[in-house]
Amino acid sequence: MNDTKEKISMLPQGRLYVPNFPVIPHIIGDGCGPDIWEASRPVIDAAVSKVYGSERGIVWRELLAGKKAFDILHTWLPDETLAVIRECLVGIKGPLTTPVGGGIRSLNVALRQGLDLYCCVRPVRYFDGIVSPVRHPEKVDMVIFRENTEDIYAGIEFPAGDEESQAFYAWLQEKHPEQAAKIRFPKSSGFGIKPVSREGSERLIRAAILYALQNNRPSVTLVHKGNIMKFTEGSFRDWGYELAKREFGAHPIGGGPWVQLPGGLVVKDCICDAFLQEILLHPADHSVVATLNLNGDYCSDALAAQVGGIGISPGANVNYVTGHAIFEATHGTAPALAGKDVVNPSSFLLSAAMMLRYIGWGRAADALERALAKTIALGQVTADLAEQRDNATMLGTRAFGQAIISHLSA
Ligand code: IPM
Ligand code: MG
Repeated sequence: MNDTKEKISMLPQGRLYVPNFPVIPHIIGDGCGPDIWEASRPVIDAAVSKVYGSERGIVWRELLAGKKAFDILHTWLPDETLAVIRECLVGIKGPLTTPVGGGIRSLNVALRQGLDLYCCVRPVRYFDGIVSPVRHPEKVDMVIFRENTEDIYAGIEFPAGDEESQAFYAWLQEKHPEQAAKIRFPKSSGFGIKPVSREGSERLIRAAILYALQNNRPSVTLVHKGNIMKFTEGSFRDWGYELAKREFGAHPIGGGPWVQLPGGLVVKDCICDAFLQEILLHPADHSVVATLNLNGDYCSDALAAQVGGIGISPGANVNYVTGHAIFEATHGTAPALAGKDVVNPSSFLLSAAMMLRYIGWGRAADALERALAKTIALGQVTADLAEQRDNATMLGTRAFGQAIISHLSA
């Protein structure tokens, strides 16, 4: 087989070319990562072969990152890892340890920024049989589009008392004395910079609107804290409405600011603190959510908890222009559970289903999700879920994977 043929690539018309046996790089991850990978790989391969027989299959290629990379290569994120994903476009990763001290703040953030994966896509839905803290978890069916490259995640911060902080304060005093006067304890203040651009906001909101259109979703909610942060979060909202009008022909409804696209899709907005109430009180009113990086981080966990799915929520980091995408387990490394065959691999598996859908293997994605949902509904679950409900059969990580395989149907 010709090498380039085996790689997924971006066609000139902006569509993915996916060979029948694509090379897909994967990062096993730290802590419980190996338990999850060993249980999940057979499930993903089985879902593909259930639907496509021997016509299609994934050629897995392991890449190093995190502690394993550090132990072997003395670097947390080898250049080769980024280079191979850059070349192969699509990859999947387990949880990674955040290195303590030194250069990289977070490997997850470094991967997102290194490949300019500007959309963090996190679907949140309820699975039958999961115990939730709310009465109607099934009313939650949202897909979060979280901006993934800007906001305070740019990581530009200066600690209290250092030269930069003092220089910044001195500059502010000189240029904007009235602003400088608002800083209550200047000598002991750290400073952080929150960049939010029009381009960055537009590409994220555009992706959310396109997703809503393609998936017949009724609305996109722009979630922001623009009442306080006018020129970052407020601009995000304004740019979103302008984009909906300019690129999608939306017109104001109810006297604005909400707008509606010709096909009926509504674009509305909600201030982030109110949104956290909304998801509890009126979850059915929100479908696709477009928000900034930090709000997206908070809202994803709150929503995941609401469906009881904090450990089973999938995620994707995508650049829809270049085609680069990394799918990931959204939970941490759970080092205390590592190697014990007890953790729940569902977050990784559901991320793999998102990946299969992304490369156009939607039937395999559906098969995997259906089998996983059935396994959970039957109460054949890992310890985290078994503890919460009666009549569950507690399974180890691998056995849970095998149970899913036994429920696969094409
Ligand atoms: C997430 C995580 C990460 C984030 C951490 C691990 C850096 O919470 O993916 O939501 O803050 O983005
Ligand atoms: Mg988070």
